[in-house]
Amino acid sequence: MTVPSFSQLLLSLERNWPMASEAVARGNIKMLKSFLGPAYRGFLLQSFKGADKSIMTANHQVLYDWNYLRQYPAMSKLYEAAKSGQWAADDGTINWSQSFDPLNTHTPIVPDIYCPASILPIWTKQSGLERATQRRAMLSWILSQILHGEQGALYGAAQVLQAVPWFDGKLFGATQVVDEARHIEVFHRYLDEKLGRRYEINENLYVLSEALVADSRWDVKFLGMQIMIEGFGLGAFTMIRSFTADPLLRDILKYIVADEARHVSYGVLALQRFYETELNEKERAEREDLAFEISLLLQRRFLMHDLYEEYYGNYFNLKEWNKFAMDSELMRFFRRAMFRLLIPNLKRLGLFTERIRPRYAEIGIVNYETGPQMSEMTNEEIMAVPV
Ligand SMILES: [Fe+2]
Ligand SMILES: [Fe+2]
Repeated sequence: MTVPSFSQLLLSLERNWPMASEAVARGNIKMLKSFLGPAYRGFLLQSFKGADKSIMTANHQVLYDWNYLRQYPAMSKLYEAAKSGQWAADDGTINWSQSFDPLNTHTPIVPDIYCPASILPIWTKQSGLERATQRRAMLSWILSQILHGEQGALYGAAQVLQAVPWFDGKLFGATQVVDEARHIEVFHRYLDEKLGRRYEINENLYVLSEALVADSRWDVKFLGMQIMIEGFGLGAFTMIRSFTADPLLRDILKYIVADEARHVSYGVLALQRFYETELNEKERAEREDLAFEISLLLQRRFLMHDLYEEYYGNYFNLKEWNKFAMDSELMRFFRRAMFRLLIPNLKRLGLFTERIRPRYAEIGIVNYETGPQMSEMTNEEIMAVPV
């Protein structure tokens, strides 16, 4: 690993210290401790930058079940649905021959309003091709984060099925592993063949991914991966599907969302039973805090620094850019799409009580708690959720 220079460390601190200091101010030292190793490697050393691979250490236990009893009917039903819902990236389900030029200047691949810089005077001074290049870059950046999240979901699903205490859950988990492999194949192919550009993982997603790989508690992996990161993915899918002009991308997202909806249902089923029967109040409150901290990471920290460096470093300092990106139409849309689906699930798991509610209110994401419960929705209903 290359040792970062002092100036690199300072830049990294400037970017990420607000997240850490906010957690300290809330007294959430415990959460910070579990994130410390990943945060040090991710935020400060930036150990993943330019790397071909990252090695993370897992600490969970594997539960063998010698009874093979199928005692969780709802999960068994989900397993049957997963078996019959399988498809392949290249079996004709997706029509890859649909062509759409991502640099099309007449029909933008994503509307200008969702490009953060479109409200700046410099936007109109740029050529049609320059604007199209930035639209493509923005979409590539979001889809790259989704691709990296899918890789995390692959490992998360593989770990969780080893630890989960129900045999039906282990069987379902195997189908999720296959699903996530397919998602990686599809997103990678789209980025590679259609957009021709891939970005590195965002620091926050890296830290979260490593923290979840390393956490020894299977339910925490489940909460982080199946509920929070899957919710993040679904939010992004519904958002992109609603605004992209590329019919191929809309198609891809339609089939992937059907898979992801099963994964979230699996997370809700498993955690609901576990939290109701196995956790004491202190342990439950700990999970509630953790869900809030992850919400904060997902809400505040996807500020597209790669795009800032590539296109806007001359126009803003980093602090100005952070505020600008945070308030952009894209991020507003994304936050609505994500939390509209996420909060009702947290409520259902008992992780959105009166104790934590004021903290969500403080960051402005309390309005979604009466929304529909994603785990009970059909694919079409998820896509139709107004955002
Ligand atoms: Fe996935
Ligand atoms: Fe998934």
